[in-house]
Amino acid sequence: MASIGRFITYASRCVLLQATKTEANLPLLAAAQRLYSTGEYANIKVEKRGDKQNVCLIELYRPKALNALCDALIVDLSDALDKAEADTEIGAIVITGSDRAFAAGADIKEMQKYESFAQVYNSNFISSWHRVANCKKPVLAAVNGFALGGGCELAMMCDIIYAGEKAMFGQPEILLGTIPGAGGTQRLARAIGKSKAMEMCLVGDLRLTAVEAEKAGLVSRVLPVDQLVDETVKTAAKIAGHSKTITALCKEAVNAGYNNSLTEGLSLEKKYFHATFSTHDRKEGMTAFVEKRKAEFKDC
Ligand code: CAA
Repeated sequence: MASIGRFITYASRCVLLQATKTEANLPLLAAAQRLYSTGEYANIKVEKRGDKQNVCLIELYRPKALNALCDALIVDLSDALDKAEADTEIGAIVITGSDRAFAAGADIKEMQKYESFAQVYNSNFISSWHRVANCKKPVLAAVNGFALGGGCELAMMCDIIYAGEKAMFGQPEILLGTIPGAGGTQRLARAIGKSKAMEMCLVGDLRLTAVEAEKAGLVSRVLPVDQLVDETVKTAAKIAGHSKTITALCKEAVNAGYNNSLTEGLSLEKKYFHATFSTHDRKEGMTAFVEKRKAEFKDC
């Protein structure tokens, strides 16, 4: 797969070089740029965005299946997240889909082949998805179109969700004779309250529109469809401009409260708050404020 990817990358560079020669080739140029941006992945596109190129934009790309989350896509996504985490230039990650679908859930055609409880239990099916939730760097979801089942759960694994005006959120698993398996029964209730979450999970065909999702607290902003990705990247770039060390501590503290009890969360928050006082960046941030200048963080 990697060698096919390298070949595609090489071929697209060649097309790009040829295409720059005449104006008539502009559509070819655009196609080549798109192809180049897919790198070595079959199911996602990855590129650096933001003025300082410090945001990693990951686009889920299985258009024929409405970005259904098959095993191969999750492998691609996990690999891209590993690389973004390792890249010291990257300060935040944005995950998006197409205008029609963020993701229409786990791949039902793939799941249909499973025969028994033992098979899915022994293979620990779907546990690798948690790579998204375990990301140390901030992850923002830019959701246009369907975010159903695993698509809604994937968005909820992210730290911030922005929605396009036509986004739709739902947990229809019960209609397939199963239940949400990637955090939907847990994160949805925490985000929008027990009654609404229970209604969505038990009725199955209820969908929250973008505006309803914002009102319920599931998403933080609703934006015009064509501005969604750019606006999400803008927020991600702001976050990426902060100290990476302090940002990671802050994210972990918010998640500790969200994932654990309030007492555990508050205790961890206090420890991390105190810990920031041992960093260069905390000292620099406060000194810069007092001296009325922009802070220069060194991520330490
Ligand atoms: N898995 C596999 N393929 C899917 C898919 C999914 N989750 N969702 C859509 N597709 C495929 C369709 O089969 C169709 O493929 P073909 O052209 O080969 O038939 C293609 O995407 C386009 O879909 P539709 O023709 O159905 O498009 P539509 O506009 O009429 O409907 C939709 C869109 C309402 C999203 C509908 O596709 C749908 O209901 N999809 C399933 C949604 C769902 O149930 N998600 C939950 C999955 S289970 C899960 O996620 C478990 C978990 O908790 C992890």
